[in-house]
Amino acid sequence: MSNSNNQSFIDCFRNAAPYIHAHHGRTFVLQIGGDVVASEKFTHLIHDLALLNSLAVKLVIVFGARPQIDALLKERNVTPQYNGALRVTDEISMSSVKQAVGDVKFQIEALLSMGLPNSPMAESAIKVASGNYVTGRPYGVVNGVDLELTGKVRSVEKETIKARLDAGEIVLIPPMGYSATGEIFNLSSIQVASQVAVELSADKLIMINSDSVIKNDKGETIRQLTCEQAMSQIDPKNKNQIDETPSTALALGIKACESGVKRIHYIDQNIDGGVLQELFTRDGVGTLLSGAPFDTIHQATFSDIGGILELIEPLEEEGVLVKRSRETIETDIKDYIVLVRDGSVIACAALHHYPEDNVMELACMAVHPDYQNDGKGDMLYKFIESIAIENKATILFVLTTQTEHWFIERGFSETKIESLPVQKQDIYNFQRNSKTLMKKLAAN
Ligand SMILES: CC(C)(COP(=O)(O)OP(=O)(O)OC[C@H]1O[C@@H](n2cnc3c(N)ncnc32)[C@H](O)[C@@H]1OP(=O)(O)O)[C@@H](O)C(=O)NCCC(=O)NCCS
Repeated sequence: MSNSNNQSFIDCFRNAAPYIHAHHGRTFVLQIGGDVVASEKFTHLIHDLALLNSLAVKLVIVFGARPQIDALLKERNVTPQYNGALRVTDEISMSSVKQAVGDVKFQIEALLSMGLPNSPMAESAIKVASGNYVTGRPYGVVNGVDLELTGKVRSVEKETIKARLDAGEIVLIPPMGYSATGEIFNLSSIQVASQVAVELSADKLIMINSDSVIKNDKGETIRQLTCEQAMSQIDPKNKNQIDETPSTALALGIKACESGVKRIHYIDQNIDGGVLQELFTRDGVGTLLSGAPFDTIHQATFSDIGGILELIEPLEEEGVLVKRSRETIETDIKDYIVLVRDGSVIACAALHHYPEDNVMELACMAVHPDYQNDGKGDMLYKFIESIAIENKATILFVLTTQTEHWFIERGFSETKIESLPVQKQDIYNFQRNSKTLMKKLAAN
């Protein structure tokens, strides 16, 4: 390995370390669509899941088999019957469902059992548990069509699943449900996964499908959504439908989130290593659905000081920001506001009060380079301005060497040093020669 490769490996590993720690002992439920199983990247995915198991993540895998079932029906000259996106499972197609689901189950078990030297699974000795963990009931008649042996989840054997997970096993659940009268129902893997996640109070529900990532009108992946925002993306007609469509995946994700599953991740099956990137990097690659906003702005506490220093030190080196010692920040910590993503400070600013003049100073404003030009600065500024107004400040000022226009575009204008509070004038650094900008605050 070259030195630069070594360094990038070390950086990656260090950046992943907090996530390795955070995921230890957590319960994740993964839903894998049948088309993922059929793809060439499936083996890599299963190896990545084995890696999660070795990092003490408690894993439940729920798989689908829709394309495999359709292929088998075709082979047997049976035309698949659908009512909208829902399969009609009659007795004849049920034998194909059982066979296709069984085949996929064996395939996953075989991949998880691979212990060949030189493979990523060497020495891993993974145990897989599977059984009658899900009870089903008939879906019933929809728009006048009886869906026969297509079903819905009735209950989940959560204690049995938990016991298997506690024993270090991976739990593998097919999209099938059994009934007390001995019937077998064909279920939606998305519904099974979300219900299992809710019953287990899982930390994460992860869905990996071809169309599962949520996109905006421009076709770009939406990286984070709150449940409230996600609601507007669902066609109300599909809200209570349980099939294998992206709309159902989103609706069931919202329900799971509202029922206590902390985070729902939607990952594109075409991204090799997508699960690892989603779980071990700050920004991930898919869409994250959560109850609370992913980025939060709040008053800084002592635990944010390390993050603030890490953010501003490079800008101090460049001379964009004035140098501040850790002690100065500690003393003024109540003045600092931070924008935090997943525990990391990605933007900060300080708001210093000059009460005798009803004036406040905005200082030390910085957005991490990876997140610039995405409205974060604006969001932080609006928050700061609202606090200044709440504190009855009439004037907000800022000293800047390289960001004059950014502030002018937000209503600031240049002023003389003499207009600053006297305390500030006394410490003005003429060598630095910063521009002095002021803004009269709206509510005053
Ligand atoms: C200035 C800063 C806080 C803006 O944050 P941000 O999240 O990138 O800004 P937003 O996404 O809200 O705004 C982006 C807009 O500001 C513009 N912009 C960014 N930096 C600018 C600068 N130094 N001067 C003028 N405009 C700037 C961008 O071009 C973009 O304009 P556009 O939308 O017309 O293309 C951020 O760039 C930063 O941290 N810079 C380094 C530190 C710094 O200069 N701090 C100010 C100390 S007084």
